[in-house]
Amino acid sequence: MPNKLIQLAAERLRAGGLVAFPTETVYGLGADARNEDAMRRVFAIKGRPANHPLIVHLADAAQADAWARDIPQAAQSLMARFWPGPLTLVLPARDQVSRVVTGGQDSVALRMPNHPMALALLRAFGGGLAAPSANRFGAVSPTAAWQVRADFGNQVDMVLDGGSCRYGLESTIVSLLGPRPRVLRFGALPVQALRDALGDDGIEHGTPTAAAGVETPRVPGSLPAHYAPATPLEIHATEALTARALALQERGLRVAVLRRNRSLRGMPLPQSLPQFLLPARAERYGRSLYARLRELDRFAFDRVLVESPPADEAWWAVNDRLARAAAGNAEDGRP
Ligand code: TXA
Ligand code: MG
Repeated sequence: MPNKLIQLAAERLRAGGLVAFPTETVYGLGADARNEDAMRRVFAIKGRPANHPLIVHLADAAQADAWARDIPQAAQSLMARFWPGPLTLVLPARDQVSRVVTGGQDSVALRMPNHPMALALLRAFGGGLAAPSANRFGAVSPTAAWQVRADFGNQVDMVLDGGSCRYGLESTIVSLLGPRPRVLRFGALPVQALRDALGDDGIEHGTPTAAAGVETPRVPGSLPAHYAPATPLEIHATEALTARALALQERGLRVAVLRRNRSLRGMPLPQSLPQFLLPARAERYGRSLYARLRELDRFAFDRVLVESPPADEAWWAVNDRLARAAAGNAEDGRP
């Protein structure tokens, strides 16, 4: 018997309401994936284009069959191995799946989250929950419940608070539409885990957009005006960081530096530069990144200079999100 809060949340969803809930990756903004009006409200309050599809969250791998057809063996193995967990699979959609959730496409993205509250909610609700990250379009995903309230206020019917998210970065997305499984979005599940499951040749993937040294401050106005302007971000190699920061300061800009703990040992920054730290290791860095970026926005610096993290695979998801944030598009777009 689920607790009262979960029951209430499931009732709200059945009535077409929107319920934000924690997952192991980030907070999701949930709506009944069979209720087109509810899902249209999700698109509306996020400010998200209608052709940007939502992930359907399931309580159980056995439910996948109700949403997807022709599920290949590779998908079965991935589900068996990684669900519940931070892996989303893109599969051919059944005809009866609403094209509102798929953004008009004939494929559907499915995921079974690994979070006790999310799973309790999914079980109590019974069906699939369409749930994008619970942030306004273009902003970074929320990793704590209060951030959802900060973004949406009372536009969301209920926010379930499950504390901070364990991964803090979105799920890894794998497409099974082609001849070989292909990574569409780097995320909380490392590519190496997919190789371990499917073999070195069993998975196709690119590399994250090179982030280091790109001078790509966010173009003001590139996001719709009603979003709080996030601080423009630049990514620089350790050696270039100080000079760039000082040059911007000389032009009268309020600059902050975001760096990895202990990374600049032997290269101290000038006292005049406010600095913020993130953990030295990839997984913990990823867990704190979005919260840090949101926090920095509240200081209203003119520019945040991020010390570029290492390029190795453990950092791919982080580097991908940083590159997007620097390009002014934190929302995880399709490649
Ligand atoms: O970790 C996560 O995946 C979080 C939590 C809440 O589960 N959700 C999430 O959803 O990140 P969202 O909507 O912010 O990102 C979903 C991504 C989008 O980039 C979307 O384009 C892609 O999934 N996607 C959804 N359906 C797709 C499809 N049929 N084909 C290709 N990409 C798809
Ligand atoms: Mg998102």
